[in-house]
Amino acid sequence: MSSSSIKGAAAPSPDFQALRLEAESLVRLPDRPFRLSPEESRLLFLDTRQLRAKSASFDGREVRGVVAPQAVVTDIESLLRRFGDWARATVVDLAPRYVDALEAGRASLRLRDAADAPLSARKDDRRLHVDAFASQPTGGRRILRVFANINPWGEPRLWRVAEPFEVHARRFLPRLRDLWPGESQILNALGLTRGRRTRYDALMLGLHDAAKGDLDYQREANATDIAFAAGESWVVFTDSAVHAALKGRFALEQTFYLPVEAMAAPGAAPLRVLERLTGRMLS
Ligand code: SIN
Ligand code: FE
Repeated sequence: MSSSSIKGAAAPSPDFQALRLEAESLVRLPDRPFRLSPEESRLLFLDTRQLRAKSASFDGREVRGVVAPQAVVTDIESLLRRFGDWARATVVDLAPRYVDALEAGRASLRLRDAADAPLSARKDDRRLHVDAFASQPTGGRRILRVFANINPWGEPRLWRVAEPFEVHARRFLPRLRDLWPGESQILNALGLTRGRRTRYDALMLGLHDAAKGDLDYQREANATDIAFAAGESWVVFTDSAVHAALKGRFALEQTFYLPVEAMAAPGAAPLRVLERLTGRMLS
């Protein structure tokens, strides 16, 4: 008798891991390393003064954030393309139902230490926050990111994660303001946003800024430390995981956008949670 015919031993639902990711916001993949070739490894020893931004990034068209000879830029592009393909396969293995809905955003190579002081408090990812991009409204789509710790010396990447999204949102929502009339049209016309900033995007940015700006919250939050080992990968809905990156050099990251309807349990989406809490349509 095959095991599948034993009563109660049916195969788990193909959505099992998607449901887990959507409920917990973060899934660790300790046994799925992204391995660099010897040629790719040389990119880790780029002089970080050649990095203009926090990281070198690639959006499918051009490499940004790095000043280096063209050959190096081309090698970074190849690495980020390869990582992007690997990251997509990783997400689809975990959550097959997302396959046709995943939209790739930027990929980044993070050489600097996450512990280094940022340019401003708003950019300080050492403080707990949910992700929201001022210039890139999602209109409610999820932000799903794949990270790989590629530290060549075996050093972990240290994060903290805190309370569930709904608890976080309830704490900061009363302090947030609504969009002003015409605000999203003006931002768009000035080229400050790619697409229209919806009410949802304004609230998410508000949560991001309010949490980072609240030092009492940062000190008192009930957070758990996570040490992602060298060679470890992790998949995170960074719009619902309340997270901070404390320390660690050398990571790869690929951002995807996912429409809420593609989720196995759309009610867990920040869009749906915020609509419930505010009693309004937000996108
Ligand atoms: C972040 O999204 O806050 C930064 C994550 C990281 O670089 O590890
Ligand atoms: Fe973040």
